[in-house]
Amino acid sequence: MNHAIKNFEEYERIYNKSISDPESFWAEVAEGFHWRKKWDKVLEWDFTKPEVKWFINGKLNITENCLDRHLEKRGNQTAIIWEPNDPKEQAKHITYKELYGKVCQAANMLKRLGVKKGDRVCIYLPMIPELAYAMMACARIGAVHSVVFAGFSARSLIDRITDAGCKIVLTADGGYRGAKTIDLKGIMDEALQQCSEVEKVVVVDHVHSNPEIKQGRDLWWHDEISKVNEECEAEEMDAEDLLYILYTSGSTGRPKGMVHTIGGYMVYTDYTFRTTFQYQEGQVYWCTADIGWVTGHSYIIYGPLSAGATTVMFEGVPSWPDWGRFWQVIERHRINILYTAPTAIRALAKAPLHFVEAYDLSSLKVLGSVGEPINEEAWHWYNKNIGKGNCPIVDTYWQTETGGVMLSPIAGITKTKPGFATFPLPGVQPVIMNDGGLEVKGNKVEGRLAIQFPWPAMARTIYGDHKRFKDTYFSTFPGKYFTGDGSKRDEEGYYRITGRVDDIIIVSGHNLGTAEVESAIDEHVEVCETAVVGYPHDVKGQGIYAFVICYEKPKEEEKLRKEIIDTVSKIIGPIAKPDKIQFVSGLPKTRSGKIMRRILRKIAEGDTSNLGDVTTLLDPTVVDEIKEGAL
Ligand code: WTA
Repeated sequence: MNHAIKNFEEYERIYNKSISDPESFWAEVAEGFHWRKKWDKVLEWDFTKPEVKWFINGKLNITENCLDRHLEKRGNQTAIIWEPNDPKEQAKHITYKELYGKVCQAANMLKRLGVKKGDRVCIYLPMIPELAYAMMACARIGAVHSVVFAGFSARSLIDRITDAGCKIVLTADGGYRGAKTIDLKGIMDEALQQCSEVEKVVVVDHVHSNPEIKQGRDLWWHDEISKVNEECEAEEMDAEDLLYILYTSGSTGRPKGMVHTIGGYMVYTDYTFRTTFQYQEGQVYWCTADIGWVTGHSYIIYGPLSAGATTVMFEGVPSWPDWGRFWQVIERHRINILYTAPTAIRALAKAPLHFVEAYDLSSLKVLGSVGEPINEEAWHWYNKNIGKGNCPIVDTYWQTETGGVMLSPIAGITKTKPGFATFPLPGVQPVIMNDGGLEVKGNKVEGRLAIQFPWPAMARTIYGDHKRFKDTYFSTFPGKYFTGDGSKRDEEGYYRITGRVDDIIIVSGHNLGTAEVESAIDEHVEVCETAVVGYPHDVKGQGIYAFVICYEKPKEEEKLRKEIIDTVSKIIGPIAKPDKIQFVSGLPKTRSGKIMRRILRKIAEGDTSNLGDVTTLLDPTVVDEIKEGAL
């Protein structure tokens, strides 16, 4: 199928077709893949249950689509360029043929260790090629991967390993992040003290830290793969079998294990990759996300590899050895498409411009943004200094739950507007809802964003908790999927995402539930109660502001702040560290005991002039105290 779109009218034509006859639209897209057996029916769905099935009874293996089918035509083309943390080290160019061999080998290793179709495998690896091999090795044999971002703490690992019931984990001795080395094996060992169900730990020798090896449990990756060969027959899977679980923060309680299934996810990530970026054969594409997040799953691994692209995997960070690192990578590999996050753009924009100017960025054709609203200033900086005014910017809006991009300009086709994700991709049917639960039609409207029709890559459930899936996404507006985001449609019908309308905050592009951060802070012995809100932060997008009540008035506030930050880091991971901690004697609560976060949000934003009605508070005087002590 040709995904090149000539002009906006053609986009509209395709879009209209995808809406008037979604089943034949997606059937046509899906024809372009390798199916062991074709589907009987394209779609069955019922958002009240909710139940969604795509490509019913279709049989396939996603790795045959990402690997085998490319061997003839592009076996010697680079599939993955791996750029190491240290720029002095050589990049690795892994061809499709080599990747095929490595994935098969890792698949055979898993089989030898007793992993079977349907088993869940936890992957806790840094951004090294073995991470890509490991994910696809699972998919090859029908196991379900659960990748945990290698910046999460032992506690976060315990929750995820236990929830998914993983018996095998794949990790490394450590990972590099700029000048730092992260002791991944140490964190894993700590987690495994509480995960007795884990039988085997396979360790990649990456930083050569010579970690402690527990006899009978821990194995070296290089030893294990040396015992098996590079051919592994792919398991025949049903389109609706599980491909992976990926955890995302919830507004209450524990992280949610979003479940993605094989057929629809493959079709959608491939289609949206090609369509959004208008990817052309032979282009080099770099998504800077970590594979531990959904962006990496969909748009470093599955989408680009299914499309036969050359995808870059970068181990390092934008700031090391200096702020020119990203631009050096682009020059070095002649990258054509760059896909990154607003938080990175803002941080890079703060560095002196000579870091950009030192490199040749003329290979760039398309720029992408993802993960949070991109502010106009960052958009213009990106456009001017990186795209040199010649590269369309695609502001892609989507979620872990949606599996792939939902709203985005089509590169070079859609007239962009800074800060707008513009229009839905083909097959996506967004609606804006008001607080009364009714759809608001027409232009120049604002409300909450929902999707009224299924798309192939949508999550099917929350692992082990279908009720929570229904309650979280399908109950606010019955019969529709609720995104949790606010949205505006302007006078020309352009969509702009205005941010979360629930208790999730997006810090440096990472979702965090305020409840999750609160309960981590509460674990400090001196802390009695906490309320966390987001506030505007010029690099992170949103920062974390914590209002903390202690059992006794803290004697050394700075020391306690540090301890609280360490506690959060230990429980969730460094991404969740509060930026501001204000000690208070009380919180603004209603008579029924509910914290009025609206007030705290205003105070955190520094806007105390109009706090609205405070008369329903149990003790309105705490508001004055909090206002005075605001940081
Ligand atoms: C936010 C990341 C505005 C949004 C792929 C969403 C965005 C959450 C954009 C999902 C964008 C993502 N403009 N907001 N282009 N992209 N978001 O699950 O609030 O890590 O609900 O998936 O990020 O984050 P997640």
